[in-house]
Amino acid sequence: ARRSRCSTLMAAAYRTGTADLVDFNWETLGFQLVPTDFMYIMRSSTDGVFTNGELVPYGPIELNPASAVLNYGQGLVEGLRAHRKEDGSIVLFRPAENALRMRKGADRLCMPAPRVEQFLSGVKQTILANKRWVPPTGKGSLYIRPLLMGSGAILGVAPAPQYTFVVFVCPVGHYFKDGLSPISLLTEEEYHRAAPGRTGDIKTIGNYASVVSAQKRAKDKGHSDVLYLDPVHKKFVEEVSSCNIFMVKDNAIITPLLTGTILPGITRRSTIEIARNLGFQVEERLIAIDELLDADEVFCTGTAVVLSPVGCVVYHGRRVEYGNGKVGVVSQQLYSALTAIQKGVAEDGMGWVVQL
Ligand code: COI
Repeated sequence: ARRSRCSTLMAAAYRTGTADLVDFNWETLGFQLVPTDFMYIMRSSTDGVFTNGELVPYGPIELNPASAVLNYGQGLVEGLRAHRKEDGSIVLFRPAENALRMRKGADRLCMPAPRVEQFLSGVKQTILANKRWVPPTGKGSLYIRPLLMGSGAILGVAPAPQYTFVVFVCPVGHYFKDGLSPISLLTEEEYHRAAPGRTGDIKTIGNYASVVSAQKRAKDKGHSDVLYLDPVHKKFVEEVSSCNIFMVKDNAIITPLLTGTILPGITRRSTIEIARNLGFQVEERLIAIDELLDADEVFCTGTAVVLSPVGCVVYHGRRVEYGNGKVGVVSQQLYSALTAIQKGVAEDGMGWVVQL
């Protein structure tokens, strides 16, 4: 019955032309959940083979209370953005990279994962089925959230006997509440986001559960988010709760080296490549917090945050400001170059953009 309701809804959407755009106030978009029309579900067999993925109406999914994801956090998230171009067509940015990162995370968490083509097909089908929710050009984008979870029931700590891959989508605007205005970061002194040998370099759901209390504390003090330091020396800059960090000093662009405790962001890697193509010197190395405090510009990158300038960092009660509340010149240049490619406005020359 669910499947037939799904095809009726899809047929109606395309027939009536409502497939073009939903009646929605696009000016209100932030980064909050807006329910859309369809989601994609694909389950694995007990031998870990994914088959028969399908679109179903967006809504709650059924999970056994003994599922591994609910009890032991055996789960991964991904995040991508799709943009609507002026001609109405839709573009995606480097989706195969997300598929590969999910496969790497799945390997670490002892889960089978969809093949790259299966991941891409699920993502594309979900976007096309929810096409009317892709914001008009310049008003935002469609955030795509693929999930992989141990959905099978298990009591002792062990890999789940079955897995589920889900894709849902949501129209979004800016991640931080003040849009593109420079954000304020509070350095975290008590907690760490990750530790050597653990899972800081994959997108497992537990990494996000562990950051929300420090994030709440920072937000209650008026900051946008938390900046984490390395757990061993408590000295080297790692990342923010939901994004990677960069600094600019004397026109060189520097970002923390991926030492295993930092998420290998796709926007991070793209920013490095774009900066090098623009002629900047880019370094991936350890950055001591004192060095960050002495930078000319600081910015964050991530699918959700895109490229967000940092206006202020507070460390041990010392407040350092960058750029007098304005976006730095290098940050602005990189933001413009990155988003022009992501939106399909500029040629990337690297085959990053996938046209749907
Ligand atoms: C993303 O940037 O897509 C993420 O997954 C970060 C998320 C926690 C908002």
